[in-house]
Amino acid sequence: MKFKQIRKAVVFFIIAAIAVIFSVSWRGLAIPSGTTDRVHESFRGKSNVLQVSPAGSYGWAVLTFDLSPYAGRRVEVGISMDVWLDSPGAVVWQINNSSWPVIAGGFSDLAAGQWHSVRGSSTLAVQGGNVLFLSAPQFKNAVAYFADLSITVNGEVVNIEREIVIDTSLPALHTKWPFKVGVAVPNDALSQANPQNRLLRHFNVVVAENVMKPNEIMPNPWTPTGAYRWTNADRLVSYAAANNTQVRGHVLVWHEQTPEDFFKGSGTGGRATIDELYARMENHIKIVFEKYGGRISWWDVCNEVVGDNGAPRANSLFTQIMNDAGKRGMDRYEYVLKAFQWARQYADANGGRAVKLYLTEYGIETSGAKLNEFLRLLDYLIANNAPIDGVGIQGHIRFDSPSVRDLSRSIDSITAKQRGGNNLVVQVCELDISLFRGNEGSKRTLTDRELNTRLPLQTARYRELFDMFEQKYNEGKLEMVLIWGVADGHSWLNYFPIQRTDYPLLFDRSYSPKPAYNELIRGR
Ligand code: XIL
Repeated sequence: MKFKQIRKAVVFFIIAAIAVIFSVSWRGLAIPSGTTDRVHESFRGKSNVLQVSPAGSYGWAVLTFDLSPYAGRRVEVGISMDVWLDSPGAVVWQINNSSWPVIAGGFSDLAAGQWHSVRGSSTLAVQGGNVLFLSAPQFKNAVAYFADLSITVNGEVVNIEREIVIDTSLPALHTKWPFKVGVAVPNDALSQANPQNRLLRHFNVVVAENVMKPNEIMPNPWTPTGAYRWTNADRLVSYAAANNTQVRGHVLVWHEQTPEDFFKGSGTGGRATIDELYARMENHIKIVFEKYGGRISWWDVCNEVVGDNGAPRANSLFTQIMNDAGKRGMDRYEYVLKAFQWARQYADANGGRAVKLYLTEYGIETSGAKLNEFLRLLDYLIANNAPIDGVGIQGHIRFDSPSVRDLSRSIDSITAKQRGGNNLVVQVCELDISLFRGNEGSKRTLTDRELNTRLPLQTARYRELFDMFEQKYNEGKLEMVLIWGVADGHSWLNYFPIQRTDYPLLFDRSYSPKPAYNELIRGR
């Protein structure tokens, strides 16, 4: 008896020492960053009341509930809660794919200063990235109180406070490999209450999954002289400084996630002229380097400039403006050359002489028209003395393709290029391994059988790739590998190319290490 008690105490002590057990939630819902929260034991006659105050901009969600465990099923989702507002407004509950579009939901106009009972339900086929959001966009500066909140799926209450156990005794992945191992950080992972936060220790480089993209930091709405918005980007930079981690900057020039107005002006079809475009690009690059100087060690200067057909990307407004200006042949990439020149100039002028400049692209993991055009682009940049240090191969690949061999050859052909006597270096900058095949573009869920055969292939592939990367590192060709996300439940592949449930990363939907993680540390 006594022995048992001691053993229990010892076991408890060991678990407490190696694992962080924490609940992420209030009544099983997550509180996103951008909201300040406080729980009142009692408030206006009710107990366990959550007070939320929006700390951010329009469109904030005050509470979220992850529906991905129900992915692939058609279910009735119900919500019931009591809400008190400090000033009149509307409470919205909606089921979204990440943040858009709204799939189902309801809206209630509420008077201030009294309890309201808000209820709703909707039957839908749940997809991988679905989240139930509670928000109150119509009273963005008001304070709201929530009590007795329950979410049901087919009548059963599902928002039970979960305890998530994260084993902090696992070796940090980056300590097992000689090259740097980084991760794309979703903004909410920087909140201590978010379980992804405890997994960031596996990585020694961080890149913002979104918050350094042009549309996240440029003025909103965009004007040539508007104010930049740094709050979220600053948070990542401070996180890194406090945790002995380096930052990779993503991204200065990209046709996506850039305000539409940035491309509008007095040129053909309402587009900016090449001069307008260049002035804006230079200004943006200057502002970013004046802000971060040498604190961000590597920058993606341009991303995805080549089209899949092996020509300048046709659906990019950068390309269209080059065409408007009468550029032909390789000169249609002149904006890429300029971007590198400005990046070097303003990095150097702001204490960032050591900052390395990268060109990043997807779909160059295998040989073909796109890789050929990409290699021609490197020749053009080098011939024109663009200050490029290396190439980021994104690495959004699949469990069955491309082959490790293909990727190895692609790294070889890129790093064979020399500028100023130095070979270009490669980073694999957005690695994830989808469990869907290339020709399964409209498939939404995997059967148990598919999952059970594909997961082991993914596991083996992660290790084969890392072994190959180590070889390339030893040959001086590769300096880092970044995984595009922390845990499966939060991967962008749950909503790209369609909403579905994918499993591309190293940690699962409960934030536990997957076999792929174990395989990457095995024997090392
Ligand atoms: C993705 C993010 O992961 C998503 O959260 C966002 O909604 C869209 O962008 N190539 C890139 C990345 O260079 O910036 C993209 O990131 C994924 C594809």
